[in-house]
Amino acid sequence: MDDRLAMQGGTPVRTLPFGPSHFFGEEDIEILSEVIHAGTVSKGPKVAQFEREFAARHGVAHVGTVTSGTAAMHTCIGAINPDPGDEIIVTPWTSGGSVIGALLHNCVPIFADIDDTFTLDPADVEAKITPRTRAIIAVHLFGNPCAMAALRAIADRHQLFLIEDCCQAHFAESQGEVVGSMGDINGFSFGGKHLSAGGGGAFMTDNEVLWERGLIFSDCALPRNSSPYAGRPYANYFLAPNYKMNDLMAAVLIAQLKKVDGYIEKKIRAAQQIIEQVSDIEEITPQRVREGDRNTYWVMGMSLDTDKLTCDAWAFAQALNHEGIPAGGPYIGSGKEGPLYRNPFLSEPNCYGRSHFPFDYKRDKPIDYRLVECPNGEKLMQRGFSIQMQPSFDDEDVADISAAIRKVFIHYRKPIHAIT
Ligand SMILES: Cc1ncc(COP(=O)(O)O)c(C=O)c1O
Repeated sequence: MDDRLAMQGGTPVRTLPFGPSHFFGEEDIEILSEVIHAGTVSKGPKVAQFEREFAARHGVAHVGTVTSGTAAMHTCIGAINPDPGDEIIVTPWTSGGSVIGALLHNCVPIFADIDDTFTLDPADVEAKITPRTRAIIAVHLFGNPCAMAALRAIADRHQLFLIEDCCQAHFAESQGEVVGSMGDINGFSFGGKHLSAGGGGAFMTDNEVLWERGLIFSDCALPRNSSPYAGRPYANYFLAPNYKMNDLMAAVLIAQLKKVDGYIEKKIRAAQQIIEQVSDIEEITPQRVREGDRNTYWVMGMSLDTDKLTCDAWAFAQALNHEGIPAGGPYIGSGKEGPLYRNPFLSEPNCYGRSHFPFDYKRDKPIDYRLVECPNGEKLMQRGFSIQMQPSFDDEDVADISAAIRKVFIHYRKPIHAIT
């Protein structure tokens, strides 16, 4: 067997492409053609049907659909209606989409560290609370739920809003509770996630006040017929975007909602098999799932004991890619940019022209994200890698992924005498 890495001219473990991330078929075409034949494709009965079905699946009172996960997270912020300069506590390992809405609302993200679940460490969240804190965003990273009971208790103790970012974690569960049902108002993305229409998003809540505000916020604060402002004179009542979903997207989501449990079961099965097949490699630790939680593995996160390897996690992921495995740095496609606070939109800062707004609003000194440090988040930068999970993964795919991880590990492990 050729044990040279593919990136050094060896034979890749995997040459065949993997299967699709979603299965689109006759059911999707049928419901889409129903919408087209009805002659109206804007927000209509299919949006209403999807919102009802998605709410029922989560046991929450209200779901509103929007155009993306970023729009959903912005709507959550719009619903709680913070003031400029208010602080929103969030994890450093997430998509920019978790905080773009907060920034558009002139709020400032404050980063709390993560633990070995790659999600917020509740103790550090509590340590980061100040009189200007308004909310905590709990991002269920890669499908792995946050410590929701602890975060709920902290939010209640300090009278903060708890917002779940469920964009990557459809139907994950924290101690038997489905994500999206525990925060005050919570966001989802349907752009390439478990449930996908190639775009779209949703927010959900049981709180009537947040529901009304979210609904109006996501539709220009106009008095539409179905809105809580119905009957008022036509006007834009506060600053708000148009984030409305249309019936074409909703139709695909209705069809895909029937398939999503199958996708998730397959991803969980494949992830568990991979974890089992590399479990003898002590230098590789999968993202910890709290006992009693359900990770739905949009992506599988792992960390490496790089003290015992001759490479960092980024190089490890690159080598896996050359072996034909869809791997990335600690955060999917990204890697070198590091935790979110190192991204130029915060570190330069590159938000509003050349100003420091909102990081200097009513502060003696502007927040300088170049000085932020979350030690565990930094460690993950060196040690974390991720594998994109697909519902199409079969036993052979899983075996190839495990074999590639083992091959790359064997190549990069330090000889015993070299480990200090
Ligand atoms: C955790 C998280 N939040 C928010 C978003 C933004 O979602 P979208 O890409 O649909 O705007 C994403 C997208 O990947 C995400 O992963």
